[in-house]
Amino acid sequence: MISYKCFLVLSILINLFTVNQGHVNQDQNGGLKNMKKVSFPLNLKSTENIEINRRIKNVSKIVDFVFETSSRIRVRPAIQNITTQHIEKYKEAIRRMKALDSNDPRSFAQQALIHGAYCDKYSPADLPSMPLEIHNSWLFLPFHRWFLYFHEKILRSLIEDDDFVIPFWNYDDPASMTLPSMFDEPTSPLYDPLRNEELRGSTKLLDFRQNPNDPEHRLTDVETIQNNLQVMKLQMVTHSKTSRMFFGGKYNPDSLLKPDTPGSCERAPHNFIHNLVGSKLTPKGQDMGLLYTAARDPIFYTHHMNVDRLWTLWKDLSSENKDPHDSDFLETSFLFYDEKAQLTRVKIKDCLNPSALGYRYDNVPILWLNKTRTPQFETFIKRKASEVLRKVTFPLDLISTESITVNRRIKNRSKAEKESVEEVIVIEDIEFNNGDSMSFDVHINPSNTVIRTDISNLATSFVNVPHVGRCDVKRRLFVGLTDTLDEIEADNDDEIVITLVPREGNIKISGLSIDFFDKHDF
Ligand code: C2O
Repeated sequence: MISYKCFLVLSILINLFTVNQGHVNQDQNGGLKNMKKVSFPLNLKSTENIEINRRIKNVSKIVDFVFETSSRIRVRPAIQNITTQHIEKYKEAIRRMKALDSNDPRSFAQQALIHGAYCDKYSPADLPSMPLEIHNSWLFLPFHRWFLYFHEKILRSLIEDDDFVIPFWNYDDPASMTLPSMFDEPTSPLYDPLRNEELRGSTKLLDFRQNPNDPEHRLTDVETIQNNLQVMKLQMVTHSKTSRMFFGGKYNPDSLLKPDTPGSCERAPHNFIHNLVGSKLTPKGQDMGLLYTAARDPIFYTHHMNVDRLWTLWKDLSSENKDPHDSDFLETSFLFYDEKAQLTRVKIKDCLNPSALGYRYDNVPILWLNKTRTPQFETFIKRKASEVLRKVTFPLDLISTESITVNRRIKNRSKAEKESVEEVIVIEDIEFNNGDSMSFDVHINPSNTVIRTDISNLATSFVNVPHVGRCDVKRRLFVGLTDTLDEIEADNDDEIVITLVPREGNIKISGLSIDFFDKHDF
């Protein structure tokens, strides 16, 4: 159920969310007189004037964002390095935010609704095929950067401390791979009872692979940490070789019909953390495990600080790692309430440089960067792929483990070619219900039996964070091949075997192929 208050926020947002995908221009001669009724679908043969009723008027005046004049840079710290004094300030700021009238757009409740409004397929009544959804596309990173910017600014003003910053929960470092204890005190404003009970006490390690508690293949803490670091390396390096792979696909207004492509760091660690932190006792994993309710948990904001930090790290990894330069991206705007409850229009192009927004992240060691593994490829190489495997036909209902042989048209490319063009497996039209948990793993040239806890040939995992509504969606997945094939010494091979291992949900896949992506193409 959507409450009335939420509907108000929603209606405002729906009216004001603009994506640079084309505009409807009013006829200069004012065609509102003598309007004939237009019915849809409309064959556009002559000029047509269409009258649209405005459901909401006199929305508080919107101002365009302006940069702060001061050039100060605040440093957002890693959560394990935060001082007690800083934690107390954070608690006080959230306590005050929760104490604001729930109609106040700066209140904690409304902050959570703003996130919910942008993520759950709410559509304007007259544009049902234009849902507001900022996940699973290139809008994901910039939307959340802006959301955090305003959220932090509001907290700053509530405690009248212009230096205040939110820490980042760097679960990509073994020092922070548990639930931070500051979120685990039931009387604190940072506490949320709707969380995974297992994480209480801050001793249980997060397992990015979400392995079941299988006594036969139980991992030690050391193994879990190594696996998590490996997942980080895969997502941040192996599958982030081009801008399109890292950011995800273009925003697609017809997302009900066409596939959306989430970026590598959105898929993991981002989605994993949502699912891991959400309660196992609520129907959909509320709060964190359901996008609509996720921002009701204060931990959401420190989680997203880390995602935002990973964006800055990715750009620092190589001078070739660049933000999209397409004007559809740069000119997309969102609306947020600032610390004075002023509705403010921001554009993506204005958030691409964190220092212009007055912050940076503290430098802490990045342990996944040089992570290597020992792939188990020998078992496979001794088999003849085409002889051993049964023929898979598409569309494929992914009910059990399936291995697919893929022929490579181009192999043994030079180092320079590999650096400028990435070889990618594209898994097309992954169909599932968006309201459900869904996940599957992709392995490259694995041995005969893939053990779930063994990630020596894991390429990536595809995981969904459930939505409130239930609808069938299609997504696309990009899997970077270049590094992995070098790693498993298979770059010479004419064919490779892709093994898909379903873990949760009903999944249908329409095809799989190899493609080549240029660094900056979308
Ligand atoms: Cu908007 Cu982590 O979700």
